[in-house]
Amino acid sequence: MSVAVPEEWLADLERRHLAELSFPEVRKGLQALSSLYVERRGRIGTGAAFDGAGKRAAFALFFGPLHFLVVREIVDALGAAAAPLSRILDLGCGTGPAGSAWALAAGGSPEVSGVERSGWATQEARETFRALGLRGRAAAGELLRERLPGSGAGIVLGWAVNELPDGAREELLPRLLEAARRGARVLVVEPIASRPVPWWAGWAKAIAEAGGRDDLWRFPSSLPPVLALLDKAAGLDHRILTARSLWLPGAG
Ligand SMILES: C[S@@+](CC[C@H](N)C(=O)[O-])C[C@H]1O[C@@H](n2cnc3c(N)ncnc32)[C@H](O)[C@@H]1O
Repeated sequence: MSVAVPEEWLADLERRHLAELSFPEVRKGLQALSSLYVERRGRIGTGAAFDGAGKRAAFALFFGPLHFLVVREIVDALGAAAAPLSRILDLGCGTGPAGSAWALAAGGSPEVSGVERSGWATQEARETFRALGLRGRAAAGELLRERLPGSGAGIVLGWAVNELPDGAREELLPRLLEAARRGARVLVVEPIASRPVPWWAGWAKAIAEAGGRDDLWRFPSSLPPVLALLDKAAGLDHRILTARSLWLPGAG
């Protein structure tokens, strides 16, 4: 059975993001955002994903719930939410869907800490945690500066590693491996397209050597009505949800 987006969160997103923008404005924002992620990737690092109300609304209202669904499916398939799990660190959390999905899969008790360089997305992540009834906090900042937790914690990077410059990515991998040796569970999720992730094979090898796994996923989805309408209107097709992941269960 496919998982669902919690209704109270979706209602909150619709209320806040469709209040001042029309459906066609959000649809246009979604098309601009998709084109940025697929064809104009060089501009992502400049914060172009957040530079306009339409794109921001699409980021929160469309990609937030979509990423929530994908991460929830992956977490369930990997058994990643098994106890004990007291804390989830969501690096590059955006509006907070990845950490939230994992925390809810674990029954809602783990505290979620999000770290995000965009101030706007950080505030949205706080709204997400509130709407979902999670104990969560989000801080605006650089994910590489974050001290990584160990035993009892999950660390998730949802569609974020591909946005890091080469040097930052190279610095991050050994730190994730080291956190897993101290007991943290590590989950990295990225798109299945290979162009954004030329580093994948190297990461997958290191993760496998540390006892982890590399997966490609395809899940049938039943998108909530507002997402299905936006998807179709923007010329996209997310009736099947796809992603790739790296998973390290953590030592001990
Ligand atoms: C494609 S979005 C995904 C957001 C969220 N994880 C999700 O699943 O929807 C990638 C996010 O990573 C953030 N990000 C990229 N590089 C970062 C860095 N060095 N430090 C903190 N956040 C970063 C971006 O601002 C953006 O919000």
